[in-house]
Amino acid sequence: MLFLQISLLAVLLAAGDNEDATASQEEISFKMIQSSSFYNRSWVKIQNSAWLDDLQTHGWDTNSGRIIFLRPWSKGNLSKKEIKDLEEFFHGFCILMPQVTHRHASQWKFKYPFEVQVTLGCELDPGGAIVGFHRLAYQGSDILHFQNNSWLPTAKGGTRAQDVSRVFNQYHASKETVQILLTDTCPRFLLSILHAGKADLQRQVKPEAWLSTGPNPGPDRQMLVCHVSGFHPKPIWVKWMRGEQVQQGTQQSGILPNADGTWYLQVFLDVEATETSGLYCRVRHSSLGGQDILLYLEHHQGSVGLIILAVMVPLVLLTALAFWLRKRCPAYFSLF
Ligand SMILES: *[C@@H]1O[C@H](CO)[C@@H](O)[C@H](O)[C@H]1NC(C)=O
Ligand SMILES: *[C@@H]1O[C@H](CO)[C@@H](O)[C@H](O)[C@H]1NC(C)=O
Ligand SMILES: *[C@@H]1O[C@H](CO)[C@@H](O)[C@H](O)[C@H]1NC(C)=O
Repeated sequence: MLFLQISLLAVLLAAGDNEDATASQEEISFKMIQSSSFYNRSWVKIQNSAWLDDLQTHGWDTNSGRIIFLRPWSKGNLSKKEIKDLEEFFHGFCILMPQVTHRHASQWKFKYPFEVQVTLGCELDPGGAIVGFHRLAYQGSDILHFQNNSWLPTAKGGTRAQDVSRVFNQYHASKETVQILLTDTCPRFLLSILHAGKADLQRQVKPEAWLSTGPNPGPDRQMLVCHVSGFHPKPIWVKWMRGEQVQQGTQQSGILPNADGTWYLQVFLDVEATETSGLYCRVRHSSLGGQDILLYLEHHQGSVGLIILAVMVPLVLLTALAFWLRKRCPAYFSLF
């Protein structure tokens, strides 16, 4: 059985080297995604959403055809008229796209049920350039992309992609609107939401970390799990270590969203049950200002003493302080 006694003392050490966790010189994109599930010849379900990287910023009310703004800054600096025009365009697209697809499904060898995903957006690179993109995928694989005012088939889309592009390229008015969205509206909007949402997007929230064990991976082996939760922004560095050595077997889950917009992740290490001594989980994140979190696996009884000490000392001090304050300002404490 496992003798993990997790030290409450998330010992804080000054980090020697400041690695990539703080660097955020990466591209950032804004994209709208329309997912259409075609069940049969007469039935399609459409969902629209918009995302700033991994963060959902907009939803869509299918009944009213209105955009749902999910963050206080999701409107950027779009005017009421621009929002209305966009809603009309997307509403039109939500009618046109399924009609065209149903009509040509057998010609294109689209077999019911199937999924079509249309993505439209733009990406800001660290140099400041913004490039628009627009793609169409069938069953999760891209078959068309939009370039220079027209739809082009992807190589892996084969002859089907060529047939689909030929049809979509006939809708000239729609292509012109798309070209404006890609080269003008999206870049302006991306800059404006990055500006409006700056405080929220760049907020620094410290992670909490704790240890547990997973199901035993085999006889005489243990699965150690380091949980890290509640941090923002997303880039983070978490490893199982011994001394200065990163343990090679460290495995990481995906970084998953918490409901409050912060992030969560698990980092695993599969080890011999007899080889756990000196192992610790190290967490490096921009919010920690260089003070990495170190969580040690403790086996020896000494750690219990330390935990008790760590809890008791502040408790005693707090109690003493409370008594002192009560004497000094009784009015304040009469509330209790
Ligand atoms: C199409 O699918 C929907 C939802 O599954 C179903 O209610 C409807 O009867 C189907 N229509 C046809 C013509 O199969
Ligand atoms: C896009 O079109 C313009 C003229 O219409 C042409 O000069 C340019 O080479 C094209 N670019 C690509 C990538 O096809
Ligand atoms: C909105 O913000 C973008 C990017 O900062 C800017 O280029 C544009 O002129 C602004 N539009 C209005 C109407 O203020």
